[in-house]
Amino acid sequence: MGEVALLNVEKKFGETQVVHNMSLVVQDGEFLVLVGPSGCGKSTTLRMIAGLEELSAGNLFINKKLMNEVAPIDRGVAMVFQDYALYPHMTVFENLAFSLRLKKVEKEIIKQRVMEAATMLDLTEYLNRRPAALSGGQRQRVAMGRAIVKKATVFLFDEPLSNLDAKLRSKMRVEIKKFHLKAKATTVYVTHDQLEAMTLADRLVVMRAGRIEQLGTPMDVFETPRTLFVATFIGSPGMNLFNCEVRKSGNDIHLIEESGIFNFVLPSSKGQLVHDKMKVTMGIRPSDVFISSEDDGIDNGWKIAGKVELVEPLGKNGLLTMSSGKKEYISEIMGRKMPALGQEVTLSFNLHHMHLFDPKTEINLLHTGQ
Ligand SMILES: Nc1ncnc2c1ncn2[C@@H]1O[C@H](COP(=O)(O)OP(=O)(O)OP(=O)(O)O)[C@@H](O)[C@H]1O
Ligand SMILES: [Mg+2]
Repeated sequence: MGEVALLNVEKKFGETQVVHNMSLVVQDGEFLVLVGPSGCGKSTTLRMIAGLEELSAGNLFINKKLMNEVAPIDRGVAMVFQDYALYPHMTVFENLAFSLRLKKVEKEIIKQRVMEAATMLDLTEYLNRRPAALSGGQRQRVAMGRAIVKKATVFLFDEPLSNLDAKLRSKMRVEIKKFHLKAKATTVYVTHDQLEAMTLADRLVVMRAGRIEQLGTPMDVFETPRTLFVATFIGSPGMNLFNCEVRKSGNDIHLIEESGIFNFVLPSSKGQLVHDKMKVTMGIRPSDVFISSEDDGIDNGWKIAGKVELVEPLGKNGLLTMSSGKKEYISEIMGRKMPALGQEVTLSFNLHHMHLFDPKTEINLLHTGQ
């Protein structure tokens, strides 16, 4: 059992407040990912759960027990740090056994738990090596093993993969997910890599400047970002944004871009969110802006002319930086064939998937009133 609950938690370093009134329940067995830009308070939040930082206000509960004054070692949590923090002079076995030896656990039990962890993580061949003689991925597994032998109920990971190359990162990402499915331990995982965030999380917490900006499943957050910040932070590249004004004309509701590059009639599902003369920020993902073809199913009124400014082939798809007038935006196209630089093309905007934000509050109009 490992439910973690933060209730109105605040953190100040001197006069500077870095976590503001944070309330959050991580359910037993859940994989929760904290994501957000550098300095938004992810590590600080994790360190408060681990007991490495005191709370300035609020309460922290693990399994419904108040933890504010409980020492890190007695919280039943295990933390894996970004730099792994392995002891260089000890072998893998000794690194894995260290915390149990400190707790004066019996020798036989130590051996048994170390072997269990080493088997689970494919480390049995390396038990006599020192960390210097291991690859980055192997070190990362030793760091996880140290958390596993503690039989912790809560695992805390602070960007554990950020020192690895791209290939190893994706391999270890799979390992971590498999491990979680097997161990079912409550996990709080910090990253600013959104691929990790999307693929690992049961639920995501998007943080901004010490506050929760949105909490939801990865698909919820991706499909219905609550704010402009989330819309541009989640998804790679982020949403394209256009400043627009709404105009009613008869039964039609028009969305007019400020520099005049488009005048779209909104689908009725979106039209009902706005009123005449309202200023809105329209957001649309690059994958919903594509080079038009006769049979793409997009209304002719939702097509505009654009010029290819930059081509970024990614293999089976590619990103185009497009311009219409002075406005630049990104289109993601599938397939290996890319248009030429400078080519004039027609682009289809799939307005069924667009979002409308209030430019003042930056809130998605789908979320207002909820
Ligand atoms: N011990 C400290 N003393 C003073 N300020 C601190 C201390 N630790 C962190 N901070 C500040 O608190 C803020 C949040 O830091 P934190 O390390 O939690 O960010 P983060 O989201 O983990 O960022 P990153 O993605 O760069 O690791 C930052 O502005 C940081 O400078
Ligand atoms: Mg950090």
